[in-house]
Amino acid sequence: MQIHTEILLATDSQVTKNQLVKQFVENQPGGHCSLVLGDKQVVILKDKQWKSLDEIRSIAGEVSRSVAAQRVQSATIQADQLAKKWSATDEAVTAFVEGWHLGAYNFDRYQSKKANPVTKLIVKGSCQASVKAGRVRADAMAFSRDLMNELSDVLNPETYPEVLKDHFKGTKVKINVLSKKEIEEREMNGVLTVCRGSKYDPSFVEMTLQTDASKPLVALVGKGVTYDSGGISLKGGRDDSDMRMDMGGSAAVSGALSLLAYSDAKVNVVALIPMVENTPGPDAVMPGEVIQYKNGISVQVGNTDAEGRLILADGLIRAGELGAKYTVDIATLTGAVVGALGTEIGGVFGDEDLAYKMKKIGDQNGDFVWPLPLVDVYEESLDSAYADCNNISSMSVAGSITAGLFLRKFAPKNNWLHVDMAGVMDKQKPKGYYTKSATGYGARLLADYTVSLH
Ligand code: BES
Ligand code: MN
Ligand code: ZN
Repeated sequence: MQIHTEILLATDSQVTKNQLVKQFVENQPGGHCSLVLGDKQVVILKDKQWKSLDEIRSIAGEVSRSVAAQRVQSATIQADQLAKKWSATDEAVTAFVEGWHLGAYNFDRYQSKKANPVTKLIVKGSCQASVKAGRVRADAMAFSRDLMNELSDVLNPETYPEVLKDHFKGTKVKINVLSKKEIEEREMNGVLTVCRGSKYDPSFVEMTLQTDASKPLVALVGKGVTYDSGGISLKGGRDDSDMRMDMGGSAAVSGALSLLAYSDAKVNVVALIPMVENTPGPDAVMPGEVIQYKNGISVQVGNTDAEGRLILADGLIRAGELGAKYTVDIATLTGAVVGALGTEIGGVFGDEDLAYKMKKIGDQNGDFVWPLPLVDVYEESLDSAYADCNNISSMSVAGSITAGLFLRKFAPKNNWLHVDMAGVMDKQKPKGYYTKSATGYGARLLADYTVSLH
């Protein structure tokens, strides 16, 4: 039997006309409830007025997950109902559709008991462009989630470029994959050094999407560490399996390109992704070694677990070579940013005006960021007695700031931002439109930021 449900507001006359139904709905805990009304199943959205677009995404995600668990095949909602709780109907529709698809997201590739299929959502009204936008945004974010959730033996520096080629087949995105030999020729010595302990060769992926050549070139650099064991400076947590998500920055960049490509955005953007695995081994880089970078800076490796900045440095140098007008790098870079901001919001460093601009974009699209300072006087804590600088700070505090200061040495001088997304990489329990999995953070943030630049 096919089960269909209708999504209604608590103020709908079908609810209010019957005192018993009205009271029942009021007494239910949470923001929504399901019941049978006459001969149909309905879901009632209870809360009065929506306060933000993310609230709409969240409620849609919760409803979607719960009706999928009830094995409902399809659900209808009237767009004008949404308009009663949020004045801009198109925004509300996009947010609802986006939250709906993300809320029922599952990564069940390795589970014998498969997840409930997503309930088909039918939005009634003349808003099909907004429906499509919601779907495209959700799909891009789900793509980032899939990349992050994938196991590190499956998604490694050798297979990752192939996954991207496959995904972008038939789009306007052009992909160029640098092999180890080309990485050597280009003197991307951070990438080469960090990947030395791995059985996989490193890769460096450049993806371009130029649909409006008159726009300034935007470079998006994403950390692609497919597994971070710490290297010789080995980690030792109780469960280190999440460190396969240390390519979250690269997943954000890839998701952003996907969003831009599938929404026909007019942009001029290049994604730069260094891909490595950070692992110990007989050939692995030892603490104390010095890396000579192409831009003239030499770096002593004080700790092999501060590997992200070592490979991002090559990506940032490349952004400069390409003459990018705007550059953003994004990375699961430091545990310290989790201490500073927790797990709901990322940190953004660099150009202050652009950082605040990015914050406003995140407030709207759900990828929240807060500007943090690059305190100049802390820079000397990166000094080394043996090279131009060290990859770790001698201070025991402000670890995200000193990581940002390290990156600044390699970044283009103007219009650079650095996003630290270590805290927002994954969720430990389902909530709103997130499930217990990788978040897909950053795809929307980078895509919308790119579109906003002129
Ligand atoms: N990938 C980690 C940062 C991280 C920590 C991401 C927790 C997600 C969750 C990064 O490579 C790292 O190991 N950073 C070190 C730097 C330190 C050695 C200077 C850290 O934050 O402890
Ligand atoms: Mn590390
Ligand atoms: Zn790392």
